[in-house]
Amino acid sequence: MKKRVISTDILEEDYKIENSLRPKFLTDYIGQSKAKENLKVYIEAAKARGEALDHVLLYGPPGLGKTTLAGIIANEMDVNLKITSGPAIEKPGEMASILNNLQDGDLLFVDEIHRLNRQVEEVLYPAMEDYVIDIVIGKGASAKSIRLDLPKFTLVGATTRAGMLTAPLRDRFGVIHRLEFYTVEELKEIVLRSAAVFKVKIDEQGALEIARRSRGTPRLANRLLKRVRDFAQVKYDGDITLEVANFALDLLEVDKLGLDNVDRSMLMAMIDKFGGGPVGIETLAVSIGEDSGTIEDVYEPYLIQNGLIDRTPRGRVVTDKAYLHFGL
Ligand code: ADE
Repeated sequence: MKKRVISTDILEEDYKIENSLRPKFLTDYIGQSKAKENLKVYIEAAKARGEALDHVLLYGPPGLGKTTLAGIIANEMDVNLKITSGPAIEKPGEMASILNNLQDGDLLFVDEIHRLNRQVEEVLYPAMEDYVIDIVIGKGASAKSIRLDLPKFTLVGATTRAGMLTAPLRDRFGVIHRLEFYTVEELKEIVLRSAAVFKVKIDEQGALEIARRSRGTPRLANRLLKRVRDFAQVKYDGDITLEVANFALDLLEVDKLGLDNVDRSMLMAMIDKFGGGPVGIETLAVSIGEDSGTIEDVYEPYLIQNGLIDRTPRGRVVTDKAYLHFGL
């Protein structure tokens, strides 16, 4: 097996923190069965042909495992992984240099790919389609364009909003998968697995309670597990039970549906200030002092999935379930 290089730039810290909990191969990856089954086939086929995997676009709310899947694909293909992100690449030349430094088969992961600027994105078109880049040498009348061959690489792009990708970029991905929120059962498995990695004892009920309050999101489940572990250690005997989980999660102000302070203030603002809606996203954002993009990407998807708010052509409305949740 050749040596795998994991090189990162701005994501380095994030990547390291979560790395110990990330599954390395598809068999250890819990949930996302559709994406998993399909990728398994594409990976096996590409390997049998000795080719690079087709370009893959992963989209969906944050924390559902896009980076983890990119790492798994690289491991399964036994190729190097290079990680970067849309906002980190400012100039076309930087993208050209990253591409030119890849080796045959390598996987380039571009997180937040919808934030690439137009000129940088345009470098990707011929690179993805024909594995070439066009470089302009000189200026003015004497300028000429030369074409450089690139290694046969795989681009894995991740975005929270597929709708913000331009059509020419989206069309160049051979494989497109939307990642879904995890079920409580799947999250429970993830919590049990992570607890085993941390070597902390946890019972089924404790794991289930953490899973229930994790908004369908493994990143959150693992974060809550770490905090519950702290309380177990300091306030109890170190083991995580239902009692410990309830105690810690209540203190963390994560409620029974997994809603945090921002979710609650958003719903309460809709109820108190806008009569339950409909209210536009920008108005709502201003009223609670949050960024509208963050509301759309991070908060709203889970609230919609859980039936606490509805999207209508005239704006967002609060549902009966939300009123009931607050005892109204
Ligand atoms: N840790 C984070 N996400 C995971 C997943 N989908 N499967 C297993 N462990 C995980």
